[in-house]
Amino acid sequence: MELLKERIRKDGKVKGTDVLKVDSFLNHQMDVELFAEIGKEFKRRFADCDVNKILTIEASGIGIACITAQFFHCPVIFAKKNQTKNIAGEVYTSQVESFTHGRVYNIIVAKEFLGPGDKVLLIDDFLANGAALEGLAKLVKDAGAELVGAGIVIEKAFQPGGDRLRAEGLRVESLARVKGMSEENGVEFVD
Ligand code: G4P
Ligand code: NA
Ligand code: NA
Repeated sequence: MELLKERIRKDGKVKGTDVLKVDSFLNHQMDVELFAEIGKEFKRRFADCDVNKILTIEASGIGIACITAQFFHCPVIFAKKNQTKNIAGEVYTSQVESFTHGRVYNIIVAKEFLGPGDKVLLIDDFLANGAALEGLAKLVKDAGAELVGAGIVIEKAFQPGGDRLRAEGLRVESLARVKGMSEENGVEFVD
């Protein structure tokens, strides 16, 4: 998606060799008109999939997921990063081991919002090692719902998450795929 790549080139800030900060339009301040173009593009790519639920993970996936859902005319569920105790049986839960943050946490979705018959699209802002997306995919599987694919805003294609999930059969559509980056030369995209 050219508009997004231009914006990353213009406003993205590279930290070291592997962190891309996009706080001015995606992760802190949010450009909702850009979000609308992103949502339209996800709709174009998944138009024929009869998506009836969008699933994301708190916090930074929520904004993108909500605007995207307006184009699919469906609700958004965000998996919660769980700190509290839950009564067994009422929630689907899965463990996420974040290499980026060096910690393990549980994500949960209440069973009443996801089940057989649902056609679910995963949406997230970043795909790096893919732990978050894998956790979301497991929740969908446990619910007996159909997983139609994942829409990602920025994939760091030099990290293994995208390739691994595609190899496992997940349809991953990333709107900007970063091949590599450096503080001197900025961001280089795949293609
Ligand atoms: P992981 O397995 O290495 O943890 O990678 P994963 O793809 O699951 O991403 C982990 C978290 O790190 C996600 O946020 C993701 O959005 C964020 N992230 C990874 N690489 C970058 C990057 O280069 N730049 C930015 N801005 N974010 C990145 P999260 O832990 O779910 O937290 P939240 O921000 O959504 O609350
Ligand atoms: Na994030
Ligand atoms: Na995220």
